[in-house]
Amino acid sequence: MPHITVKPFDTSCIKKGNYTKNTEVLFKAEDNFSSDELIAINHGHENFLLCLKKNPKSWLLKYDKVTRPLKVNLLKQGIADVSTGLNLEVLQSNITIHPTKLTPSSEYEKSIEDFTNIEFPFPSVAIEVGFGSGKHLLYQAIKNPNRLFIGIEIHTPSAAQVLKQIEILGLKNIWVVNYDARLLLEMIPSNTCHQIFVHFPVPWDKKPHRRVISPSFLEESMRVLEVKGRLELRTDSPKYFWYSMETFLGDTVSKTAVEIRKNEALDITSKYEARWLRQEKDIYDVYVTCREASETRVLDFDFSFKELVYKKELLEKISYKPELFDGFFIHFERLFKIGDEAILIKLAFGSFDRPEHKYIYLDKLQSYYFNSSPVKTLTNHKTHLKIMEYLNV
Ligand SMILES: C[S@@+](CC[C@H](N)C(=O)[O-])C[C@H]1O[C@@H](n2cnc3c(N)ncnc32)[C@H](O)[C@@H]1O
Repeated sequence: MPHITVKPFDTSCIKKGNYTKNTEVLFKAEDNFSSDELIAINHGHENFLLCLKKNPKSWLLKYDKVTRPLKVNLLKQGIADVSTGLNLEVLQSNITIHPTKLTPSSEYEKSIEDFTNIEFPFPSVAIEVGFGSGKHLLYQAIKNPNRLFIGIEIHTPSAAQVLKQIEILGLKNIWVVNYDARLLLEMIPSNTCHQIFVHFPVPWDKKPHRRVISPSFLEESMRVLEVKGRLELRTDSPKYFWYSMETFLGDTVSKTAVEIRKNEALDITSKYEARWLRQEKDIYDVYVTCREASETRVLDFDFSFKELVYKKELLEKISYKPELFDGFFIHFERLFKIGDEAILIKLAFGSFDRPEHKYIYLDKLQSYYFNSSPVKTLTNHKTHLKIMEYLNV
């Protein structure tokens, strides 16, 4: 991932303002408990953070995972502009920008915010969760030109790769969303999808809370699917297969229709599947059919902080231990000072199996989530109200 190492320098030279025509430094934030610093920039109409890690002889300037934009060239150019603007002595760099590789912003890349009051420009919609190399997603989109395929992938380089393929193949019926599918699904209107594909999800045997399939994912899938629409799981892991069966047929499910197939060949073989087939592993398909229409979901949660502003007393109040509540948690992870009058808090919060990772900016006049608000779910909103209560000293 893009980074440079630079000779140590006096960071007091980092000031708010324009460094180039396209790059503006918004603020600099210093970690309260280590020497790390964050530089907030606006580049190419996107706000994101760069992280400065100070080792004794050289410093590392790199991207921040929570706020990183999808396009790697934006990151590279942002780092390059900051480095040139500050006149940094670069010791090592991997940010060569290849002009031919610059991709214009793609109309097929959607952000989580785009899904507030979304309308689909196709008569039918399907979702693929964790599309990886995108082989199956692209195949389906080519085969069904009148259906919109929403590919949701948490791994940013995979999402960027597939966006390139969409441009190359000239496809008009795919949207790519670089986000946690478990959260995004909650933004999709009820009764709208024909299929939800979950092919070869990561088994997460040691961290089951990270699995895509869960009782709440099943519930959301059934809400989002149209009547007779299907959730389609394909896995090579016997453990995941049995875990899914327990989830699909468990106590919380009163009525369902589940179909199982073993070693069914599909028209298209993904990269992962090819590997398992070479190893002669069994492949399991589980199809869960939606049987009932669901109620409409209204997403009108407000994630603003209203009158909340920064007060010095807050520095004493914040506890860095995770706090558990009924159905959600809040974990303030790090605090960064922006001069004497503002702070940036890094936190994880929300439901246990679908946590959000965000920053909150607070100064004497205003507070907001940097660089985007949480997904509009009931649990996130409940947590947001608790965060507001907590920060209001
Ligand atoms: C084992 S790979 C399978 C990729 C592809 N479906 C295939 O069959 O080749 C699992 C993929 O799911 C993605 N993934 C894992 N958890 C996810 C989540 N919560 N939301 C979206 N994508 C996720 C991973 O980044 C990875 O690309």
